Amino acid sequence: SAAEKGGYDYFMLKEIAEQPKAVADTLLGRIDGSGSLTLDEVRIPPRVLREIDKVVIVACGTAFHAGMIAKYAIEHWTRIPCEVELASEFRYRDPILDAQTLVIAISQSGETMDTLMALRHAREQGSKVLAICNTNGSTIPRESDAVLYTHAGPEVAVASTKAFLTQLVACYLVALYLGQTRGTKWGDEIRAVIRDLSSISGAVERVLGTMEPVRELARTLASKNTVLFLGRHVGYPVALEGALKLKELAYMHAEGFAAGELKHGPIALIEEDLPVVVVVPSPRGRSVLHDKIVSNIQEIRARGARTIVIAEEGDEAVVPYADHLIRIPVTPTLLQPLVATVPLQVFACELATARGNEVDQPRNLAKSVTVE
Ligand code: AGP
Repeated sequence: SAAEKGGYDYFMLKEIAEQPKAVADTLLGRIDGSGSLTLDEVRIPPRVLREIDKVVIVACGTAFHAGMIAKYAIEHWTRIPCEVELASEFRYRDPILDAQTLVIAISQSGETMDTLMALRHAREQGSKVLAICNTNGSTIPRESDAVLYTHAGPEVAVASTKAFLTQLVACYLVALYLGQTRGTKWGDEIRAVIRDLSSISGAVERVLGTMEPVRELARTLASKNTVLFLGRHVGYPVALEGALKLKELAYMHAEGFAAGELKHGPIALIEEDLPVVVVVPSPRGRSVLHDKIVSNIQEIRARGARTIVIAEEGDEAVVPYADHLIRIPVTPTLLQPLVATVPLQVFACELATARGNEVDQPRNLAKSVTVE
């Protein structure tokens, strides 16, 4: 009903708008007065966590994209090797698992059969399983050794939005907690990032306040057949997520690529007026990547692409090559997906509407996939 949608036309719009609160709720009660993480609910003893020598993340769809981003955070802050695998592929290749492996299963619904079968397989091999989940008491957390709930509130729209952002926050918390528990040379950075996370809700709110040009742009693209997405580092999974949203909602051919792969094939797809969304890493920090992606934007634009550039406030290097420029707030490199994803959600939702599609219930899809 209209009341359930809180005045929005679609649950998806409501859930996009709820993201600042959702990410704040994921953090609630998990950072103590001294700025350290208290994840008591992760009932895997610190002694066990110190002995973990590998992390394996299993998930499907959007949750898998959260896992891909988590890998960057976990490896950077903990120096533990981390693999991410589609849950539907995982157990069929006889993965190497033992008691020193921490398996993280990410699922909004907690009922996704592929993810459930993957975690059962992992536990049979003696691995500890930590679930990151949004649905209290669902099957995946019940069958895991521990759970970190995302507290995003119920997500009704089939296309995942607030669950994704809160999965990211939960993944960062796990990465930082592992780093804190094990002690790494990144202690100061870990404390700084915990502070940065506390202000991320405001950053998401600011992005939401600037989305009207994104909606206008989406409407002008309603008759296109293809949209490509490029990203690098944590922007690569963001590009994949932007493409997935467009497939599900707008029924368009949408593909995400790692920008560095462009020259190895995908650049052949570029033709006159093809919309290409590019997620640009911060010019600070890993600035080599920033400069490389600016060259990519130049290259595709020289071949006719219509460039839609998502770049940090103050990044002037992209301006000459951006047909459309979407600004996002400055964040630490690893946290950028929390702000960069939001315009892609709005873009897909508006394109779906412009094409006359049912936003909350895309064709052929179910909210949770309880079959293998
Ligand atoms: C997201 O927009 C999708 N509807 C889908 O990819 C979803 O993320 C996937 O099916 C996993 O669901 P889960 O998080 O409930 O396990």
